[in-house]
Amino acid sequence: MKIIEVKDYQQMSRLAACIISEKVRSQNRLNLGLATGETPKGTYNYLIKDFNHNGTSYEEVYTFNLDEYVPLSMDNPNSYRFYMNHFLFNHLDIPMSHTFLPLGNATDLENECVRYEKQIEDHGGIDLQLLGIGKNGHIGFNEPRTSFISKTHVVTLTSLTREANARFFERPEDVPKQAITVGIETIMKSKEILLLASGESKREAMNELLHGELSEDFPASILRLHPDVTVIADQTALKGIQVEGYSFTKC
Ligand code: F6R
Repeated sequence: MKIIEVKDYQQMSRLAACIISEKVRSQNRLNLGLATGETPKGTYNYLIKDFNHNGTSYEEVYTFNLDEYVPLSMDNPNSYRFYMNHFLFNHLDIPMSHTFLPLGNATDLENECVRYEKQIEDHGGIDLQLLGIGKNGHIGFNEPRTSFISKTHVVTLTSLTREANARFFERPEDVPKQAITVGIETIMKSKEILLLASGESKREAMNELLHGELSEDFPASILRLHPDVTVIADQTALKGIQVEGYSFTKC
């Protein structure tokens, strides 16, 4: 794992956007794996700025999001589809038909998981996967003790995750109890992974990611076995943690 320590959230977001847009420009047809939540909002902002100023085109990009709440429909403002349209897709030249998320309101959820997993495979898999990390080490919505060999599946969210995500909802009880998430195996099949972490609330998770045990109790620990993972974390997230720094020259 390459660890890049940056000053703050803005620098983390700028560097992440630079790495992604560079990839969009250099690869003819690109499959991007995308995340939601607080962490990638800055990155999406910088991608939009780059699109407006430098004209980086997303016409040949396909996107696959990590997860979606059950049973939210696409037009629910709390759905991840709504978030992605609002914070990114509506501001780029990406055809909407190239943007994919699991359908949280599918009538047959098991079928939907199989369909989404196949959709990713049929498109040739993820080239670059963007990840945030939960305080408990979840990636996507793969909560602790999810099997490392899981594919896209329905999850019951832990109370810690529901509490952490309550800030996006009007009332804490509105946070859905279930979600569809791509599996850990699905994430590990990505050719390249970029994980972002910012702020004090992610410090324990960063320590565990870098120095803890490889265990299904901490899902992100599996990333140590992936051949091409870059972690961009800010000073606050890495404070007091021993890091073997890596300097990045491409951006
Ligand atoms: C969301 C996702 C989650 C988040 C994680 C961190 O698509 O995959 O794993 O990345 O919960 O969330 P934030 O960024 O809000 O701290």
